[in-house]
Amino acid sequence: VKHAATFAAARADLRGVVGLVPTMGFLHEGHLSLLDAARSACDTVVMSLFVNPLQFDRDDDLRRYPRDLERDLGLAEGAGVDVVFAPAVETMYPAQPLTRVTVATLTDHFEGPHRPGHFDGVATVVAKLFAGLRPDRAFFGRKDAQQLAVVRRMAADLSFPIDVVGAPIVREPDGLALSSRNVFLDPEQRTAALALNRGLAAAADAAEQGARQAADLVEPVTTELAAFPLLEPEYVALASQDTVEPIETLDRPAFLAVAAWAGPTRLIDNVHLDAAGGGFVADRGVRLDHPSVLYQEG
Ligand code: PAF
Repeated sequence: VKHAATFAAARADLRGVVGLVPTMGFLHEGHLSLLDAARSACDTVVMSLFVNPLQFDRDDDLRRYPRDLERDLGLAEGAGVDVVFAPAVETMYPAQPLTRVTVATLTDHFEGPHRPGHFDGVATVVAKLFAGLRPDRAFFGRKDAQQLAVVRRMAADLSFPIDVVGAPIVREPDGLALSSRNVFLDPEQRTAALALNRGLAAAADAAEQGARQAADLVEPVTTELAAFPLLEPEYVALASQDTVEPIETLDRPAFLAVAAWAGPTRLIDNVHLDAAGGGFVADRGVRLDHPSVLYQEG
């Protein structure tokens, strides 16, 4: 795998249909599934690895975000990545950027109000990656449901000729959605964290069995969360996939999303409810049958 630190160096090795997988590193199987999808749909795969200071709303979160370039280069190599674009902060932002990309409305609810400036940071850095690397396709996980909607809309609004592809959540064997931040959970927090997926799974069953009221889908999640006093929920809500507005009735493609703190670690998870055959089918994600590479030593 080639390790490039500038846009020009990265672009020099890109041929044919180019797939981009943007990451902040500390890779897990969620990222690896995006790399696989890119590998099978594209001629060259470039993975960006950049912990983007612009999208962190909390300094402590930015400071403690896990990083290990050597480890990530090894995993990228194993996944058949052609180029890892890992720029320094000074390369990505040679000066304080005076231009920011803001996606209105889609960021009004859920993660937006809880993480001021976050989506401007994401939209700005992804626009820079799109402009600088010029991929044909770009791959994002459904775990960050609102981010996926924001990136799709940003690409359309700014006329980037790039296909934005969403991929299912990858879960640990016990159902916990993979996140690089899972390495921070202590055993008690980790047990409590499973409540998010348990609640969503119950809601997914309800939706497939015909439940249509947001309140009836939210209820199983809040009930599961309430069993663990150490969890501090921020929201549980049903949202339209396109507009990311809260909806009262499941009558269009939607996702049921949850955010909660487990101690100092913020967790998010969701289940997408996709229209199919006159009803809705839940995307519960995929479960690993082995411990995640997140927990592998060295
Ligand atoms: O999802 C992420 O890891 C980041 O938000 C992204 C898309 C790489 C932008 O920094």
